[in-house]
Amino acid sequence: MVTVLGYGTTGLSVGQRVFGLTDSYRGGGLAEYVAIEARNLAPLPGDVDFTVGASLPMPGLTAWQGLFDHGRLQAGQSVLVHGAAGSVGSMVTQLAREFGAYVIGTGRAVDRQKTLDFGAMEFVDLENDALEDVGGVDLVFDVIGGDIQKRSAGVIRAGGTLVTIAGPPEARPVDGLAIDFVVMSDRAQLGEIVRRVRDGRLRTNIGNIATLDDAVAAFNPTERISGQTIIRVRP
Ligand SMILES: NC(=O)c1ccc[n+]([C@@H]2O[C@H](COP(=O)([O-])OP(=O)(O)OC[C@H]3O[C@@H](n4cnc5c(N)ncnc54)[C@H](OP(=O)(O)O)[C@@H]3O)[C@@H](O)[C@H]2O)c1
Repeated sequence: MVTVLGYGTTGLSVGQRVFGLTDSYRGGGLAEYVAIEARNLAPLPGDVDFTVGASLPMPGLTAWQGLFDHGRLQAGQSVLVHGAAGSVGSMVTQLAREFGAYVIGTGRAVDRQKTLDFGAMEFVDLENDALEDVGGVDLVFDVIGGDIQKRSAGVIRAGGTLVTIAGPPEARPVDGLAIDFVVMSDRAQLGEIVRRVRDGRLRTNIGNIATLDDAVAAFNPTERISGQTIIRVRP
């Protein structure tokens, strides 16, 4: 996204290519310059372009933290990933598969093939299939909230976990945990994510690339965009 302009005891050097996430209370990413704590940045290897770099922190860190820090995923467990063709869901699907989980993705009917292409073993069409037919899973990763989140608690086996990024949980699995969280930047995790992009284990999910002048329109699309919207601050 950016190169380093100032430094101290940051572990970064001036002119170094970096990527990362501003703290949620700060924002400011849609600008030519942004003040950002060095701890929120990681080096971006020279063979990863800035567009790909920009697409990684938000969904990549959210997926990583939801699965491993909050969801405590274990190899061999089953994960139901809502919105699995979307930005966060596609990262969740790929990371969970790599970790040895059995992954069931959900979404709209049109997203079936995309979800399977990201590595889900099964697809549940939320518009036509019965979510309740899914057998007991260990972990639900919810990006949708509302009624879908509430109904999801019922498909979690006793002792399992509901992780949601769509606001406070409104239901809790039997004898289990319901957790919501807000993503935070983490240099080590950014390094894990970009390493996987470089060696092909992780694929980014970009739906639209727009200029800064077109940012407002890009964030208010008139037709459905599947995947992330990336704003190029400099042409
Ligand atoms: N708490 C955090 O730290 C955190 C971090 C990142 C994101 N978020 C939030 O998490 C949410 C998801 O982010 P994202 O970037 O992954 O969004 P996204 O790329 O739009 O992905 C969401 C996916 O879920 C699908 N979906 C939504 N409602 C659905 C429904 N009722 N039935 C079937 N499919 C449905 C969407 O399809 P359509 O596009 O057709 O609706 C899309 O494929 C957003 O609300 C975002 O603000 C929170």
